[in-house]
Amino acid sequence: MATVTILTDQPGAEISPMIYGHFAEHLGRCIYDGLWVGPESPIPNVRGIRSDIVEALRAIRIPVLRWPGGCFADEYHWQDGVGPREQRPAMLNTHWGGVTEDNSFGTHEFLDLCDQLGCEPYICGNVGSGTVREMQQWVEYLTFAGKSPMADLRRANGRDEPWPIHYFGVGNENWGCGGNMRPEYYADLYRQYQTYLRNLSGNRLFKIACGANSADYRWTEVLMEAAAPHMDGLSLHYYTVPGNWRDKGSATRFDEAEWFEVLKKTLFMDELIATHAGIMDEYDPGKRVALLVDEWGTWYRVEPGTNPGFLYQQNSLRDALAAAINFNIFHKHADRVRMANIAQTVNVLQAMVLTEGERMLLTPTYHVFEMFQVHQGATHLPVEIACDDYAFGDESIPAVHASASRDSEGAIHLSLVNVDPVNACQITLPLPGGGPTDVEGRLLTADTMQAHNAFDEPEAVTPITLTGTEVTPEAIRITLPSKAVAVVRLA
Ligand code: AHR
Repeated sequence: MATVTILTDQPGAEISPMIYGHFAEHLGRCIYDGLWVGPESPIPNVRGIRSDIVEALRAIRIPVLRWPGGCFADEYHWQDGVGPREQRPAMLNTHWGGVTEDNSFGTHEFLDLCDQLGCEPYICGNVGSGTVREMQQWVEYLTFAGKSPMADLRRANGRDEPWPIHYFGVGNENWGCGGNMRPEYYADLYRQYQTYLRNLSGNRLFKIACGANSADYRWTEVLMEAAAPHMDGLSLHYYTVPGNWRDKGSATRFDEAEWFEVLKKTLFMDELIATHAGIMDEYDPGKRVALLVDEWGTWYRVEPGTNPGFLYQQNSLRDALAAAINFNIFHKHADRVRMANIAQTVNVLQAMVLTEGERMLLTPTYHVFEMFQVHQGATHLPVEIACDDYAFGDESIPAVHASASRDSEGAIHLSLVNVDPVNACQITLPLPGGGPTDVEGRLLTADTMQAHNAFDEPEAVTPITLTGTEVTPEAIRITLPSKAVAVVRLA
């Protein structure tokens, strides 16, 4: 049993559409043999970019795409990825599988991808092994309209007009793969690098500093104290890992103990954001600086037989619940969290899309992005939840998780998650003043916790109509099946 009260008279911040953002790294089969198949491929593509993936991502209104990494960003030298493809130098991708990167997907290809997707680019620059000059020149190449060495090089490479570039990251995980820096050292480097990231030809950069690893609150403290006035955003990375980094659980072969563990660890995102945001409030009470959760998602051991450096994992109903819980948390903190980027879009970690040759499937996580897109740009409405616990062993977590928003037409959307893998939940919504009379919803669930979409059964987990809702003068009643995500529209 649960009662979910939507506080319609206490509207909060706008839910930035960017919270539904994505991340594509030169890692495994995310770019190569994923988004990029090359112009000569028999797989339908536009200028080398795979068309079925573009269509799928447009359907969920992908708002922003972060690139080229990740750890890869801090060993990427952008000038190697422009100019005639056959003349581009190769490099070793030391982080991800030790494969040779031929740089055939570079700046122009990425920005073409963003154009085809209709999304904003978010470019992450190289601090760990790059130079201030290199980063400054990238911005000049991208955004300068006049005559200059870099703008002329861009023109020579076939692009006359500059691109509008807003989101620009100054390094990635500089506490780890991006240089193993102390926060004091990175804060000084951040101040230096960002000085030379100029707003050229009317372009306005949104400068993003590398933020903390999970609960490293000191990192946030040092960065905010030393550099807050110089940044527009500060990032945060948190992955949900069953087991530990050395010995992770499987994406599909798990028992209820691991089901519980993943969902409980996912809920930690709430405490993390609240604590980091609290520190940010001390230095930036007006909340000018955004918190960007620019890497999040589940991280399992790779699928058997695949390259351990490629991070290819399946995606089950459990991942759909984890995504939905994260979105509910991001909505709750919409006043500070103004972007989030799931890791990663295609064939890597908690992906939207998996491919095998010419075949493509949509994962349960994709369906959550599709169902939840009604919250993009809507006004957050706080919710109060009184519910039973879901207990496993000697631990328990609340069974029901929810968030709500009101869209520009006045309709309210309520997202619900029931983490209990066995018991359905009767949910009562006391009717907000006057009360909506029209209720419709969609449901994502399956018979088993481990249900997932495979290439020979691509629609095992797919949204259906939510039935069993009841509207009375006092309340709306919803029966939410066990292990389920629902989005309900109240109008
Ligand atoms: O998303 C995979 C990796 O996870 C990224 O490259 C890195 O930033 C993080 O550690």
